[in-house]
Amino acid sequence: MPTATETTTHHTEISAAQRRVEDDLVDRVVASFDDCDNPRLKFLMQRLTVHLHEFIRDVRLTEEEWNTAIEFLTQVGHITDDKRQEFVLLSDTLGASMQTIAVNNEAYEDATEATVFGPFFVDEAPEVPLGGDIANGATGQPAWIEGTVTDTDGNPVPNARIEVWECDEDGFYDVQYGDDRTAARAHLYTNDQGEYRFWGLTPVPYPIPHDGPVGRMLTAVGRSPVRAAHLHFMVTAENLRTLVTHIFVDGDPQLEIGDSVFGVKDSLIKRFEQQPAGTPTPNERDLGDQTWTKTRFDIVLAPANPVYEEN
Ligand code: BEZ
Ligand code: FE
Repeated sequence: MPTATETTTHHTEISAAQRRVEDDLVDRVVASFDDCDNPRLKFLMQRLTVHLHEFIRDVRLTEEEWNTAIEFLTQVGHITDDKRQEFVLLSDTLGASMQTIAVNNEAYEDATEATVFGPFFVDEAPEVPLGGDIANGATGQPAWIEGTVTDTDGNPVPNARIEVWECDEDGFYDVQYGDDRTAARAHLYTNDQGEYRFWGLTPVPYPIPHDGPVGRMLTAVGRSPVRAAHLHFMVTAENLRTLVTHIFVDGDPQLEIGDSVFGVKDSLIKRFEQQPAGTPTPNERDLGDQTWTKTRFDIVLAPANPVYEEN
């Protein structure tokens, strides 16, 4: 039996005749795409065929296992609708989302690292002014978040659009309540100095939706559905690469336990400094006897079409 991380092929236990049968099938399926007139689609389908057949042959997949996989994917499809995207959860929990992000967001100078998008972004969240509060009724400990947006030469980026979204203190995004509320999400713009600031909530760990087939898969393999506490950002600005990322909370025990979708990067872990009740707030917001936190997240955007130096 091969070990799980070995990448070499393992067809050694089969006879030469059996190997020829299996090789021949791969060749015929690959050739079936030869006339595809979209070169990229042809390439993707042929390489998918090679890898899929390699997997089936490598693990000597049983017919029962294949049927179980098809039944599982059928369940993933059945639970998916315009509000519940189980395929995204599957991609995320298999690390496929993060691998696609890694492939498409190669490190460029000191540009801020990207991480997983997740299924809870909503287009056209309300705008808040600089220093505004995104909570709109979502409960949790207030957090002051401020920083700058610059390019990799250190120039401030005015008018960058920053989308932010997060769960409430119970671990739910507004869209999970099913009552059309909009809370703990907003967009804002950087000022002429490239600065931004807003009130959000101190992020808390929460489980990804795990009452469906992906949750059952996680249970079957002994994995937790919990994500490390985070606050989502998407930053767009002219001529710069769109950044989809989060910040994580330094000291969150879930960082040690692990993030269920492999989204954590050390550079994105920020200190949310606890402020005792009564500490004056940056914009004189009256928080009564509530404690609050503050953090800083300086964002650096890569050029839209970065030119990488050969190494
Ligand atoms: C999220 O962070 O919102 C998320 C990411 C992946 C799967 C589920 C949720
Ligand atoms: Fe999230």
